[in-house]
Amino acid sequence: MDQEVVYDFDAAVSRQGTHAEKYDALEKFFGKGDVEPFWVADMDLPSPAFLVDALRERLEHPMFGYTEQYDAVFDSIVWWMRDQHAAAVERSWISLSPSVVTSISNAVQVYTEPGDAVAVLSPVYGPFFTYVNVNGRQVADGPLLARDGRFEIDFALLEKALARPDTKLMLLCNPQNPGGRVWTLDELEKLVELCAANNVVIFSDEIHCDIVYPPNRHIALLNVAGAAERCVVAHSIGKTFNASGLQASFAIIPDAGLRGRFRAGADRAHAADVNLLGKVALASALSPAGAAYKRQLVAYLRENTRLVSERLRALGIDVMTPEATFLVWSDFRTFGPWKDVFKRLVNDANVALSGGQFFGPAGEGWFRVNCAHPRSLLLPAVDRIVATFRR
Ligand SMILES: Cc1ncc(COP(=O)(O)O)c(C=O)c1O
Repeated sequence: MDQEVVYDFDAAVSRQGTHAEKYDALEKFFGKGDVEPFWVADMDLPSPAFLVDALRERLEHPMFGYTEQYDAVFDSIVWWMRDQHAAAVERSWISLSPSVVTSISNAVQVYTEPGDAVAVLSPVYGPFFTYVNVNGRQVADGPLLARDGRFEIDFALLEKALARPDTKLMLLCNPQNPGGRVWTLDELEKLVELCAANNVVIFSDEIHCDIVYPPNRHIALLNVAGAAERCVVAHSIGKTFNASGLQASFAIIPDAGLRGRFRAGADRAHAADVNLLGKVALASALSPAGAAYKRQLVAYLRENTRLVSERLRALGIDVMTPEATFLVWSDFRTFGPWKDVFKRLVNDANVALSGGQFFGPAGEGWFRVNCAHPRSLLLPAVDRIVATFRR
């Protein structure tokens, strides 16, 4: 048997000159170009060499024209979903998409009418609000409960949001960003039951589902009883393989009627494909070699998130140790208005974090730390935060 490749996530790799948004947009969003960035949710850890090699090999051929949707791409998705998530996916259920957010916007357009409501559980990834609003729909929020350092669904509030006659769609973040919850089977079954009772379609954004810390286990919505007839499951190689810039995503829709509507919308926008290099990356990443990389990555990130949350807790604040994702969600409200905290983080601690208001009104005053960085850079930055607010 081949020896497993060992990945070195401790090595710092500069992103200078790569137009990385996390770095190059610092001046614009933080007013300081050289502040250390722990905001945008991509990793400062390298993609695996086998994936880079697959891209390089394709680049050896000097023509980059129109490319078909070839078998290896779909085979790799079917294999990954079965091997990593115990989900039996038929090839015909899969639609390629440039990004999960593209699929969110499409779902809002095809499953709801202007003026309708879309249910969310906030705080949640900002575009869940943005793409409801820019499409002329309204958000029906069922805010999560922050209880004992983790989020829980307030089923009474969720039921209220779903029971509105104008609610046609729910956007679910599974696992949850920013709190890192892995929803349990029990929670998902209840949620599906409520959506079924109110005839609501569920869009399950599972982009973070590969970075899950045992014994927590991601449950694909596809595997929840009663979900297949009302769900869209969206995924991407963006987070796990640090490949967001390649724009390689896919949506899985078992129900033929829902799938037809989704595809018609994607076709109208001419957005039912992944670019050439994205296809190469998808087919390469979702493989046994990708699974080995993921295993090591998850172990590294788990320790990072544990260390970061432990250190931040020294401030006496509420910090969520994530069950999934490389993100740590922390409550800085005790230190004053968020704008003042933001200034101290940037000017005194020299760190750029994601401000909680991006995740909806319930996030105001909280900040999110991206822990997908080499430990040698991440931990000193967190120590600076602690020193700043201990003063
Ligand atoms: C929950 C969630 N969905 C979607 C995205 C973005 O995905 P994409 O780049 O495929 O649109 C992110 C990125 O942070 C995310 O956290």
